[in-house]
Parts: sequence; structure tokens; C-alpha cells
Amino acid sequence: MGWMTWNYFADNFNEKDLREMADAMVSSGMLEAGYDHLFIDDGWQGGRDNKNNMIPDPVKFPSGIKALADYVHSKGLKLGIYSDAAPLTCAGYTASLNFEEQDAKTFASWGIDYLKYDYCGAPDDMEIAKTRYKKMGDALRNSGRDIAFGICEWGDRKPWLWGAQVGGQLWRTTADVRDKWKSLKPAEKQSDLHATGAGILDIVDYTQDHAVYAGPGHWNDMDMLVVGLYGKEGPSGAMGGTGCTDAEYQSQMSLWSIMNSPLAATNDLRNMNAETKRILLNTEVIAINQDVLGKQAVSKVKNEKWSVFVKPLSNGDFAVAILNRADTTQKANFNFAELGLTGNYEIRDLWQHKVIGKGKKWDGKVLSHETKLFRLKKI
Ligand code: GLA
Repeated sequence: MGWMTWNYFADNFNEKDLREMADAMVSSGMLEAGYDHLFIDDGWQGGRDNKNNMIPDPVKFPSGIKALADYVHSKGLKLGIYSDAAPLTCAGYTASLNFEEQDAKTFASWGIDYLKYDYCGAPDDMEIAKTRYKKMGDALRNSGRDIAFGICEWGDRKPWLWGAQVGGQLWRTTADVRDKWKSLKPAEKQSDLHATGAGILDIVDYTQDHAVYAGPGHWNDMDMLVVGLYGKEGPSGAMGGTGCTDAEYQSQMSLWSIMNSPLAATNDLRNMNAETKRILLNTEVIAINQDVLGKQAVSKVKNEKWSVFVKPLSNGDFAVAILNRADTTQKANFNFAELGLTGNYEIRDLWQHKVIGKGKKWDGKVLSHETKLFRLKKI
């Protein structure tokens, strides 16, 4: 869990912004709720020095990354950084191909806790992808510091099949998330979707069959939470997301949680409205995401109107998410037995924070693109 620079700042940030964001992670309650990583994405790099050591952009980071890491650590946070398995990153900055060991050691010496490793500018070949990621995975393991490894391969080379083998703790399942509900047409290859980006619903649909690959220590990464961006994506909204409704943001939080995705916010934490805080800081929802059993929800219903997911929890309860995919309010009527849940349950609504009923079924209204998130306890 944490906060990531990309969808709000793109590559337009500096050390002052990141110190402010670290402060905001603490003062807003994000850290207390579990968002404990500040992830620096693409755009921090300033090339290499005369010994080929990677250096940060001296204008953006006059005090260097180590000083920022010390500051972030003093707040009780961890620091993530970004590179790529090719000569240049997606945004055209210096990357790590053929410098894996040297860069991993540099990151370790700065006090980095996490590396997001992209695959822009690298060959369209699964074997080469595996080899390049393994090289960095090994380098991190030998760096002398415990650095988590996030595989940012957009899905064309199926990182869920090999990500854990090459040392990854998480891997992306789709093209980049955008601050929008869905794309106009489905993509055969995730890279086809990359220019326009994937909407919340696209990512749910592309990731729902990958539950079998996730488990403690290795997760499907559905990309950042766009909650609270309201179309302010990239400098002056240049990234193209048109914004979502609060019901759609609440759906993203519900679905990313039940599907066990890492939760990385990317909105401006210095200016959050009450709805954004209510969504990002719902600790009952976060508890579903962080449940130690580590089982990703399985899709039980998928049709034009509904997606329903069920996730078993470590104390024997079940989390159930009911998403209205339609563009109008729908009346739902689900027997729990249809979802594989036999018996009687107490139904707790995790957005209303109260028990709303008991029995073998739930019926009620669901707004367009809203997700109900329940915790069912057997009685
Ligand atoms: C890719 C990644 C994004 C972001 C950018 C940075 O598009 O998928 O999450 O890291 O690169 O350039």
C-alpha cells in the first residue's frame, strides 16, 4: 500500500513535492490506514556520473535521493523508485539494462525499499522479459538491502505466469490505468490499450481470471487507485482520464480490495475532499485487501448487468462485492447459495459500516457503476 507519483504528476515533480506528499501521508491518516510506501515513478533520473552510477536530476533533487529517503523513513514511511529493463524508460529517461547490479547497489545505498521495473523499449518476447527481470530480481536480492520488486510489464508477456519465479512480489496485469470508467472497445493486446489507457472496469475484467496466480508474497497488480483525481491526471490533466463519479471511485476501492491488488493512491493527498478520504481511508475495506489468508476474490457472476466476486477471509467470513455494470440503477436479488455460500449469514455493509440484514440472500438497489461490499458471517 502507498502513494505513487505517476498519474497525478507524471514526470513533473521535485523533492519539495515529495516531502509535502510524505507529510500529507502522515497528516491525512493515510499512513495510519496502512499506506506506508511513497513510490517515486519515472522522471527522477538525471543520467549517470563518470563511474556510471545512476544519479537523480540535480534540478528536481538538489539534495539527492538518500536525503529524501532519510526524510521519508523518519516519518515511518518507505521509499519506492522506478527503472526499466532497457536503455531508456517509458518517458525516455536513463534505465538499467546492463547496469542491473550497479543500480541495485545504488538503490540499496540510498535506502530504497521497493523497485518498480518497467519494460518499455524492450523486445516483445516472453523469454527475454523473464531473463531481464530475473537479472534485476537477483541483483536486488544481492544488493544487501531488502528491496521489494514490482514487475511493470503491461500484460502482453503474461507476467502472472513467471513473475514470482524471477523474484517479483507483484506484476501488472494490464496497460496503464486512467481516471475513467471504461474504454470504448476491448483490447486483444494490452499494449494496444496503452495509448488511451485502461478504465476501472477494463482492469477488473482483464484481471478476474488471474486469481489462481496470486497468493501471499506474489500479487496481481491492477495499477494505481485513481480515486480522487477527478480528471486531474498528469500536469493540467494531460494524461487524458476524464474523471469518475464518487460511486465509480468507491467501486475501484471495493474491487481492488477484494481482488487483492496492491493499493497505491495517486491523487493529490495535500487536497483531498471528504468523499476521497471516506473512500481511501475505509479501514473495513482495507482489511479485506490485507487479509492474511491472501486469497484473491473469484468471479461468481458476470453478465451485462452484474459482476459478483467472493473472497474467503482468514476468520471464516466471506467478502462479497456486487458491481452494477449497467448505466442505470438496478434492482439486485442474489441468493448466497448461487454464489457457493450455503447457510445463513449476517450481512455487514462495509461502506455503511453496519449490519444490514441476516439470512440466505440479499436484495436491494445498486446505483449505476456502484459496488456493494459486504462481509458475511455465518450464523
Ligand atoms: C509506464 C507504466 C506507468 C508509468 C510510466 C512511466 O507507462 O506502466 O505506470 O510508470 O510508464 O513512464
